[in-house]
Amino acid sequence: MDSQDVKDDLKHVLYTREQIQEKIAELAAQIDEDYKDRDVLLVGVLKGAVMVMADLSRALHAHYTMDWMAVSSYGSGTKSSGVVRILKDLDTDLHGRDVLIVEDIIDSGLTLSWLKSNLESRGASSVEICALLRKPASVKTEIPVKYIGWDIEPEFVVGYGLDFAERYRNLDFIGTLAPHVYS
Ligand code: XMP
Ligand code: MG
Repeated sequence: MDSQDVKDDLKHVLYTREQIQEKIAELAAQIDEDYKDRDVLLVGVLKGAVMVMADLSRALHAHYTMDWMAVSSYGSGTKSSGVVRILKDLDTDLHGRDVLIVEDIIDSGLTLSWLKSNLESRGASSVEICALLRKPASVKTEIPVKYIGWDIEPEFVVGYGLDFAERYRNLDFIGTLAPHVYS
């Protein structure tokens, strides 16, 4: 499959590589400012947040450490249920730590809401969230998100870590899928 084929699968480009990098730099500047002199643990949620984490962490200037979790949310089809199973846990002891969860997208918010309470219950002194995208029309539970890239329409998006059937994660931009791909 060449890159032309991938473009054929997309309805339109939502955010270009340049727009994403600019947004990530803005978020990183805020985070550096807010967490001055604190030893922050960035927690990336696999697999979707890999690109956000890779670029965000390199745009930050202070000391940070990184760890990863993989969770699966039980539900019907693509819908999140809020019942979450940990597939890969952190290696880090959270006692007294300032934690910043790094996510690709907030849809219903149920997964993150569960994750935030889970990390708080391990003794973290603070747990905040940074997500590149959020779909306000789909959000079912109000969770405070300290850092948000863009609020978007409730359309399925791919690229920059986001997948459809594991494809498109490698794109350096974010786009919406053409209906012929999923119908
Ligand atoms: P909830 O509903 O718990 O779930 O906020 C968030 C997770 O759902 C996935 N998700 C998407 N993945 N394009 C994707 O590739 C999308 O438009 C999309 N919307 C939700 C994603 O795994 C996210 O972590
Ligand atoms: Mg995700």
